[in-house]
Amino acid sequence: MSGPVISLGGSIFSKTDEKYLLEFIERIREEEGYAIVVGGGPIARDQISKLRAIGAKEYYLDMMGIQATRLNATMVSLALGNLMDVPKSIDEAVRQMKLYKRVIMGGTEPGHTTDAVSLLLAEALSRETVVNVTNVDYLYDKDPKLKDAKKIEKISYSSAVEMITSEKRGAGQNFPLDILSLNIARRSNIKIKIVSFRDSLNVFNAITGKKFRGTTVS
Ligand code: UTP
Repeated sequence: MSGPVISLGGSIFSKTDEKYLLEFIERIREEEGYAIVVGGGPIARDQISKLRAIGAKEYYLDMMGIQATRLNATMVSLALGNLMDVPKSIDEAVRQMKLYKRVIMGGTEPGHTTDAVSLLLAEALSRETVVNVTNVDYLYDKDPKLKDAKKIEKISYSSAVEMITSEKRGAGQNFPLDILSLNIARRSNIKIKIVSFRDSLNVFNAITGKKFRGTTVS
């Protein structure tokens, strides 16, 4: 598969969503040439909040988060029967791709998230698309908890950046992309498909280039 890079959001590692993680693993087993970047999820959040409570600096919180993403990536990798180590950099990931025709990784260095890693990996591997598998089904034009919030099926890079920076969105609201990821996507014209992990068929429709329900940023 010279298909998309998959950004597997850490939220799929929540205890209550375990079945979706297992479904994802079962289905991705059938795909060849996968490139997956795995997020930190609850383990990252828990460990970071403990460290924050004792006054650790942001740099070290990020280091903690990265270790959590690598732990989750190791879980997915072992579940798929892969014995190679989780790569610690994009360069290493590209080398693994060449050697093994598949790669599963977590974070790389402090200062960004695994979404940004997935876009950088897509650039490095010349992939045209990143599928962001996350805990929301679409981007919405306002806080999705509001009754009149509307789903967005297609949005440009610049409108998405504008949305993230707009003050209309409530603080702490879960926005499934960050500005860095959008900027990397824009400079290399990489399409981002946002899909909810709660519909496995839909996730794989997005991955295999079929019609899917979710938001496309391009
Ligand atoms: P995630 O990519 O899971 O971040 O990395 P997130 O946005 O908090 O989680 P999702 O997207 O909702 O699942 C977890 C944490 O690890 C650190 C950051 O602190 C991030 O918040 N991290 C991750 C890095 O510093 N660098 C990386 O390359 C990846």
